[in-house]
Amino acid sequence: MRTNDAQMLVLSALADGPLHGYAVNTAIERMTGSRLGRGSLSGALARLRDKQLIEYLPGEGRRRPVRLTAEGRTVLGRELDALVDVAGQLFETVVPDRTAYQERLNATDQARVYQQVLLDALDARPGQHLLDWGCGTGAALPALARAATARGRVLGVDHDPQMVRRAAERAAGLPRTGVLRADVHRLPLADADIDRIRTDRLLQHLADPAAALAEARRVLRPGGRLVAAEPDWDTLAVDHPDPATARAYTRHLADRIVRNPLIGRQLPRLAAESGLTVRSVVPVTPLFRDVREADRVLGLQRNTERAVTAGYLTREQARDWLDHLACGPFLASVTVFVVTAERVGG
Ligand SMILES: C[S@@+](CC[C@H](N)C(=O)[O-])C[C@H]1O[C@@H](n2cnc3c(N)ncnc32)[C@H](O)[C@@H]1O
Repeated sequence: MRTNDAQMLVLSALADGPLHGYAVNTAIERMTGSRLGRGSLSGALARLRDKQLIEYLPGEGRRRPVRLTAEGRTVLGRELDALVDVAGQLFETVVPDRTAYQERLNATDQARVYQQVLLDALDARPGQHLLDWGCGTGAALPALARAATARGRVLGVDHDPQMVRRAAERAAGLPRTGVLRADVHRLPLADADIDRIRTDRLLQHLADPAAALAEARRVLRPGGRLVAAEPDWDTLAVDHPDPATARAYTRHLADRIVRNPLIGRQLPRLAAESGLTVRSVVPVTPLFRDVREADRVLGLQRNTERAVTAGYLTREQARDWLDHLACGPFLASVTVFVVTAERVGG
């Protein structure tokens, strides 16, 4: 529902029965978080009355109750049905293919911004041995190959065969670049063989991030560097007139959807505990102002449905939540921590 559409708000406020003018505005405030200005409320009431969508009941002055006419109820029903259709077309309901999802995410402006911070921190040089740890579809391999040049070497590692296939296609055209299918907890690499490890949103999925970081330290040569970008899902902030619903949505995502939801903030501590020396921690907060763009990354409708099933949101809250996200001005953000750590000494 467009919250600036005063006539629709008045019709919706009257859906449960007659109210006087002041109570109409109180009902609107309950639905949207703000009241209509006096002029806009009286203008909407006058226009709805002219169109015979509402009618006044007997009473005194401003306290005269107003109610929907039969035609008003029909118009409201029609508008709400149209709204459900809009939400249905706007949000993605089918789970996207894993590789397509990663390709799409990597193509967003939001990803490009923190990935550039990651690449700058990596400071990869010609002739170095570079590892893309959990390389996914290999989107970062071309940039790593350019940095290492034909004098260096680039390796992507991932355990998912579909990801490895796509990454290998990318690597085929690049100098001295290969892809290996392996579990990052147990790398088939010699000790102290790698100059730089790049990793992006891998650790949030791992069974044992601490063990994996120890493995990263093992394969880094002394003076070698790991740069990791990981989100902190507790920081997911979505604007909604009912902050409790937004918090419940974020809590569900952090509690039930992501394996290591707080890895962003935990990473500097875990890296230090694995024997690495943490050089810098840079928080980057991608911002979404376009609901469709955010949905393609956050799966808003799918995760809302899961939150209902898991008991974090009621059906009614979920409907209000999606209606508002679909039609109101949209804002969401989540912080990604870019952590640079080095292996110092032997
Ligand atoms: C969120 S994706 C990120 C992919 C890639 N870094 C990118 O930026 O497009 C996480 C990747 O980690 C891989 N992964 C998860 N657990 C792994 C493990 N134990 N060993 C190797 N790869 C793993 C997944 O297959 C997936 O490709």
